[in-house]
Amino acid sequence: MSAVVTGAGAGIGAATARELARRGHAVAVTDIDLDAARVVASELDGLAVELDVTSAASIEAAVERIGSELGPVEVWVSNAGISTMHPFLEVPEGDFDAAMTVNAKGVFLCGQAAARHMIASGTEGSIVNVASMAGKRGGVPFLSHYVASKFAVVGMTQAMAYELAPHGIRVNAVCPGYVATAMQQRELAWEAELRNMTPEEVRDLYVADTPLGRLETPEDVARAIAFLAGRDAEFVTGEAIAVNGGAFMD
Ligand SMILES: NC(=O)c1ccc[n+]([C@@H]2O[C@H](COP(=O)([O-])OP(=O)(O)OC[C@H]3O[C@@H](n4cnc5c(N)ncnc54)[C@H](O)[C@@H]3O)[C@@H](O)[C@H]2O)c1
Repeated sequence: MSAVVTGAGAGIGAATARELARRGHAVAVTDIDLDAARVVASELDGLAVELDVTSAASIEAAVERIGSELGPVEVWVSNAGISTMHPFLEVPEGDFDAAMTVNAKGVFLCGQAAARHMIASGTEGSIVNVASMAGKRGGVPFLSHYVASKFAVVGMTQAMAYELAPHGIRVNAVCPGYVATAMQQRELAWEAELRNMTPEEVRDLYVADTPLGRLETPEDVARAIAFLAGRDAEFVTGEAIAVNGGAFMD
């Protein structure tokens, strides 16, 4: 049985691909950036596949190839996502559309394709969507368009879980906090400029906001995804679990 990770050429997706391979899955490392996917796939004897989560045709072609080369897909991780930062009053319409298209519609299109494949192959599989703490709480600066897209992911996770349960397919989400990836490097630079601070000062704010006292690693998220994907979570569905060192605790 195979596992598919989207946006697996970097960051959380790459760490998740490694973790799923370590746990014995044949992993399809997919990304819009095929070269990046190839580097990660070569480390874990996986299959590198070009997959743009905003294109139904691209997703369907990838599913077809992965099913025939690695076998029926048992685990699908919709991880690909993008971010930009702007004050709400200045968010360009194009940035709103891009966040919704990649982060929300991407999870929708991938979820449909994954579930159709699982049902057709008689596989009682598991889908994990990567949302964010910004999918549970809107009180974060400069990310209103991203917040909208990630709330959509949390809502869609519940709706998918409800409708796919009769097929034996579980659907859950993870909500990471401040994860040290290339996305965070970009956000540190943007937020520093918007707050008139240095990136190092902003990073210190992230750590101060995290009760467990450090930045989150991609591996912290990957282990939680692997837990939700696996048998230890066989009676868990429709959940969006915080994986964030206690940041944003109510
Ligand atoms: N880094 C954080 O602090 C953080 C926090 C919460 C949630 N997240 C979420 O985690 C996920 C991964 O984030 P990351 O920090 O690893 O990001 P990243 O930018 O480091 O990596 C994202 C990967 O997604 C790929 N990608 C972008 N658009 C794509 C598309 N249309 N189709 C397929 N692949 C595409 C990129 O090529 C890249 O390899 C995203 O959904 C992000 O919103 C990140």
